[in-house]
Formats: sequence, structure tokens, C-alpha cells
Amino acid sequence: MWPRTPLTDKLGITYPILLAPMAGGPSTPALVASVSNAGGLGSFGAGYAKPDQIRAAVREIQRLTDRPFSVNLFIPAGQQASPPPEDLSRAEAMIRPYYEELGLAAPPLAELPSLPPFAEQLAAVIEERVPVFSFTSGLLPAEHARELKARGVILAGNATTVREALLVAECGADIVIGQGSEAGGHRGTFATAPERGLIGTMALIPQLADRVGVPVVAAGGIMDGRGIVAALALGAAGVQMGTAFLRCAESGAHPRYKEAVAAGADEDATALTRAFSGRLARSRRNRFVEEIAARGGPPVGYPEQHALTVGLRQAAAARDRPELMSLWSGQGAPRNATGGAAELIAELAAEVERVIERLR
Ligand SMILES: Cc1cc2nc3c(=O)[nH]c(=O)nc-3n(C[C@H](O)[C@H](O)[C@H](O)COP(=O)(O)O)c2cc1C
Repeated sequence: MWPRTPLTDKLGITYPILLAPMAGGPSTPALVASVSNAGGLGSFGAGYAKPDQIRAAVREIQRLTDRPFSVNLFIPAGQQASPPPEDLSRAEAMIRPYYEELGLAAPPLAELPSLPPFAEQLAAVIEERVPVFSFTSGLLPAEHARELKARGVILAGNATTVREALLVAECGADIVIGQGSEAGGHRGTFATAPERGLIGTMALIPQLADRVGVPVVAAGGIMDGRGIVAALALGAAGVQMGTAFLRCAESGAHPRYKEAVAAGADEDATALTRAFSGRLARSRRNRFVEEIAARGGPPVGYPEQHALTVGLRQAAAARDRPELMSLWSGQGAPRNATGGAAELIAELAAEVERVIERLR
């Protein structure tokens, strides 16, 4: 018997398993809907999506499921000074040879693509009546939290330390997602230096469960039923899993990316890197990660480095060149399963039962 948790009640889901939102393609509407239909909570990573893309994705999810699901956005950092032009030029010079290797010109500095404005993204989320909204890398401004809550939207926010979790709960989140350092993708750290927000899931979750007054979801390195039971034992009300779903049939991850994830996650397989976006993230190690690290890391941060490399990463994907693609991936050992997400959820659910039985 699965333990009932405050999360299943709050979200109206069968299993306290959340699909991690995975911006940039992996969390397709089909993957989101499959997870929700199978009794978990699918999450659409909309961080890089324009408002009309968010609307289209949400409508597609709603066509595919009548179960709850969530949409996730990145909270933009406050007003930041642009990097000095000489740093931008150095960053561009570091990236240019990779574009040239693919037969392309690096984007002119004056024309770097910018991220869609947060307020417009959020307006699309609100208009499309998304049932659960999750945010990362910052705090949801009070006026937005009030508006979403007034419309009955359940709010979930990411935290990587106890202090961040308390801030996230205070800003109105109904659920705190504790992101351990094992997690694939970007670190959600926002209230301290990214290097100080690297607490492992095992150490982080009990501290959050003890200190935070809302249900805590554990994220980072959870790959199977053992990990789910462990997270519940640590005091989590549920789990959020990303890497485990990357190889599912409905995942939008590139085939070479899926292969790289399948190659295992043992010693040295992943690295924390700023090479792709300027913001600390866990990726599989590849040539780009190693070479940029060997040169001391990118001279600029987020979003400039993201803007400088986004075209390169897209071109690398189109040319089947995984050594130049971002391969976000956590430290857990991936399952071999490549079937549908519903199969994975059913397997996880059965495995949890077996693990609980064994512990008895
Ligand atoms: C490919 C990928 C993309 C991600 N994108 C996002 C995102 O857009 N928003 C977010 O809140 N978290 C994102 N994450 C982090 C997840 O929410 C979560 O913390 C992580 O997947 C948990 O660790 P795991 O990958 O070991 O399961 C991403 C993770 C991965 C693997």
C-alpha cells in the first residue's frame, strides 16, 4: 500500500510522482499528459517558451488529459547590469570556433536572442487556466502569487537550501520542491551563491521537512522505487523526477541525448557547468563542457552565455553532434526502459509496493 501523502490530496493525483518540467524540449505535451494520465503530475517546462507557444502547449496537454498538470517558468533575476563589452567579446571569441566548426557564423553581439518576458509568459499561464504553476530560480512576486491563488492555482517553488525553502513558502507556495545537488539541469539556487546551494537530496530533504510548513517534494537523483521510498522516509510528501523520464518514448530529448543518458551515470559521468548558459547546471560531460572548463569557464553569466550558445546547441542537435549539445542529466543511474511514461509510472508504483513490503 502506498502511503497517502498531503501531496496526493492537494494535487488530486494517485501517485506522489511529479515529472520534472524540462524546458528546451524534453517535457513535450505528450510526455506531460502521459504522466498525468498515469496518475502522476506531468509538468511542462515553459521557461524558454514564448506566450503563444505556452498557449499552444497547454491546449495540447488539455486535449490529451483531463487530469491535473503543471507549467513551470524561470523567475527572472532582478535588474542586472549588462556585462562589460570586453567580457562579451571574450565570450563570443570563445564560442565562435564552435560555430565555425559547424559551418556557421556566430550571432552578432548586437543581435543576441533575448528570453521571452516573464510577465507575458505568466499571463499565458493564467489565461489558459493551468491548475498547478511551478517556479524556479527565484521568488514569485507577491502580486503574481495573489492573482494565481485567487484563481485557485496551486503554487510550487524550488529551493536548494532551508533558507530558500522558507522564503518560497513565505511567498505563497503551497508546495516546496527541494532540489538536491544530484539533480540534472539548472540549479534553482537564488538566495545564496550557487556553490553553496549544493546540498545532496539525502541531507536536504529532512531539514526542509522539519522546517517548512508546507509539503516538501524531493528532487535530484531519484530514479526508481527505492529512491521514492527513501524520499518519503526522509519526510518528503512526494518526488520530482527528470532524468528518469528523459528516455521515455514521449520525451522530446534528441536521440543522441537519450543515448548519452543511457551510457550510465557513474564516476565522472556528469559535471556542474556554466558552459552552456552561464548558470550552474548539471550536464553529462562532453567535449564542450570539458573545453570551456579548461579555459576557466565562460567570461559572462546568464542570460548572455545562454544567448551566445543557443544557436550553437540547436545547430549541433540538427547535425547529430552531441559533443556540442547540452545534455542535462542527474547523477542517478538511468533505467534501460525506453517505453512510454505510463509504463514507467506503473513500474515505479509496483516497485514502491515491493520495496515497502521488503522493508516490513
Ligand atoms: C533536461 C532537464 C531540464 C530541466 N529543466 C528544468 C526547468 O525547466 N525547470 C525546473 O524547475 N527544473 C528543471 N530541471 C530540474 C528538475 O526540475 C529537477 O530538479 C531534476 O530533474 C531532478 O533531478 P533528476 O534529474 O536526477 O531527477 C531540469 C532537469 C533536466 C534533467
